[in-house]
Amino acid sequence: MNDTNIKTEQILEEIRNVKRNPINKKTDSEIESFVKDLMGKMTLEEKVGQLYQTSHDGSAVSGPSFDSSRNNILIKQGAIGSMLGMINQVDMFRLQKMAVEETRLGIPLFFGNDVIHGHRTGFPQNIAMACSFDEDTVYKASKYSAFEASHCGITMTYSPMVDIVRDPRWGRVTESNGEDTFLSSNLARAYVKGYQQDDLTSYDTLAACVKHYVAYGLAEGGREYNTVDLSERMLREHYLKPFKAAVDAGVESVMTSFNIYNGVPATINKFLLRDVLKGEMKFDGFIISDYTSSGETIAHKVAKDEKDVARKSITAGLDHEMMSTTYSDYLVELVRDGEIEESLIDDSCARILKFKYKVGLFDNPYKNIYPNPSEFFLLEETRQAALEVSKNSIVMLKNEMNVLPLKGKKVTLVGPLANETKVIGAWGGITDHLDCVTLLQGLQNYDVDVNYIKGAEYFELINSDLELIEQSVNDSDVVIMAIGEEQWMSGECNARADITIPEAQVELARKISEMGKPVVGIVFAGRPLIMTDIEQYFSSILYAWFLGTESGNALASTLIGENNPSAKLVMSFPHSIGQIPVYYNALNTGRPFIKENPEPYRSVYRDIPNEPFYEFGYGLSYSDFKYDNITFSKVEDGILIEFDITNKSEFDGTEITQVYIEAMWFSVSRPNNELKGYKRISLLANETRREQILVKNDDFKHYNAELVNTTEGVDYIVKLAKSSSNIIKKEKFNIK
Ligand code: BGC
Repeated sequence: MNDTNIKTEQILEEIRNVKRNPINKKTDSEIESFVKDLMGKMTLEEKVGQLYQTSHDGSAVSGPSFDSSRNNILIKQGAIGSMLGMINQVDMFRLQKMAVEETRLGIPLFFGNDVIHGHRTGFPQNIAMACSFDEDTVYKASKYSAFEASHCGITMTYSPMVDIVRDPRWGRVTESNGEDTFLSSNLARAYVKGYQQDDLTSYDTLAACVKHYVAYGLAEGGREYNTVDLSERMLREHYLKPFKAAVDAGVESVMTSFNIYNGVPATINKFLLRDVLKGEMKFDGFIISDYTSSGETIAHKVAKDEKDVARKSITAGLDHEMMSTTYSDYLVELVRDGEIEESLIDDSCARILKFKYKVGLFDNPYKNIYPNPSEFFLLEETRQAALEVSKNSIVMLKNEMNVLPLKGKKVTLVGPLANETKVIGAWGGITDHLDCVTLLQGLQNYDVDVNYIKGAEYFELINSDLELIEQSVNDSDVVIMAIGEEQWMSGECNARADITIPEAQVELARKISEMGKPVVGIVFAGRPLIMTDIEQYFSSILYAWFLGTESGNALASTLIGENNPSAKLVMSFPHSIGQIPVYYNALNTGRPFIKENPEPYRSVYRDIPNEPFYEFGYGLSYSDFKYDNITFSKVEDGILIEFDITNKSEFDGTEITQVYIEAMWFSVSRPNNELKGYKRISLLANETRREQILVKNDDFKHYNAELVNTTEGVDYIVKLAKSSSNIIKKEKFNIK
């Protein structure tokens, strides 16, 4: 063994000897007095040190370069508060030991990381999970992700991402809950509860950090990091609400976004951070910048130099700086020169220390560091959870003549994604694509008689396969074609101007459809793709998004009918790129287009309809759900909708029933439909049940012209619906 190996072995032995006694939950007063006492002993330099997060493994994509030996020096000086993106337990232990044993006050580091949709076991992309319209599904995914990651040294995850998104060209729609703020707020709560379990001292949980605060999803043209412009009313009505939900659910941290709001980058925007988040929302955790976003305010041309960045950021209320070093480099000087009050630093430092104390790092700084984290990875229970979550995330968009489920049919399987293991999607944590069950493997696991011939790469036909495909199709009952985009094509910095399905794949679909057998399209994508050209060639379509480790099993079980698809779209699908942005709750114009009376000089395109190709809330099931005896009544808490729902089929199934409201008039323009209620209703084959959904009085409110959140006492139509444009029944009410 060489020296390094001996050292590593020694550290592993120390990690094996870490005692993992239960840690008591802390009361607010315990936290207060602990932090007060500790801060009483700290120098200004040490306090500033707590405000800096850096990385250790050279993973910086932009910003200051650093080498890991620099971290050793800084940690010993107490000049680093937390580490980003580490997963190597030996390194983590070594740095933590340095912080605890070789600094004056022994303050532990915390370890932040991006655990976005699974850590080692890949859960579906967040946009896919959102299509379940199900808090339990999201809760389950985040609980299991937290279990794996919390045994891998990680203290905090940079999740959930709750940006409201309307532009599928933006690569990061894949991390989001889609276009609706009501749904995203409910899911934000579920993520936070799932990760944190209301028990941060547990060895199985992660602290959550909600991001990106705020309105990042509005990046112009969908181009990454692009500029944003919106009114304060829109901000409050759509963009702030999921953050408020996360704060109310007890989220420990908030990450700022890269964009500007009202001309000022979010990271140094005092209105957003100090007035709204810490003031109005009473957020008492800490605010962290995004990766070098504070330093980037110089490129935004709103800070003169790094010293100016530090002054503006701390004044605005930013507590923890990720990767940029303006706090480390200038805060002490700014205080000494009397340019800022030390109390600003005290407040930020106290927030970080409270967090560290609350999660039990002062009780056991090594609490999450394990000698062999892989013992906790990919456990059968976790894979089962991933399978369930994946099943709940698949959206069926078409099923002509009930081609699906397959029921013993002989299948020819084609397409670039048919036997692809890379189906985790962006931000895959430490997943290994080789663990992923491909569609082909899934079909084989479920004993489907399948013959696989690739037929096309993403952008190129494999001409030599065409004859083989034809022979196979002649001998099959049905063709399954797995198409879409490669997993790396969405995610951060993967904006695309062209989100149509590549021509080679459309061409293959056309050729195969001419062979005369029904074709089932399975679309893998991190975003809504333009389906307009290819849709006609398919009898049935499942939108798979990227489903993660259990992808192939979830799809196969759905194809054969063991799982009945239930998810519905959380983002509208455009007809063409020129229709973007298209979203269900857009405002009317003064000249709305009326299909039944298509007058000229109306707000309409000449070449495509105004409606999206697939609307928000749309999705099919093998079951046919029938609604009867629908009543709407005014009750004390709001409007109660009651209905009988029948599963008219031989399949057990789940329907996502939705409720929208429409204000008849108001002091500001409001959409025709605003989602204000939904319910996942599972029914056995042919079962009927009486169900109810309540729209709460407060949910009729809207920010009016004076920015007051009010119903304005106007008339509202309440609508029971299957999707945002499939309304079953409606009734009018006056809401005070
Ligand atoms: C992303 C964040 C992420 C951070 C740390 C940034 O580039 O915008 O979402 O949490 O990196 O990895």
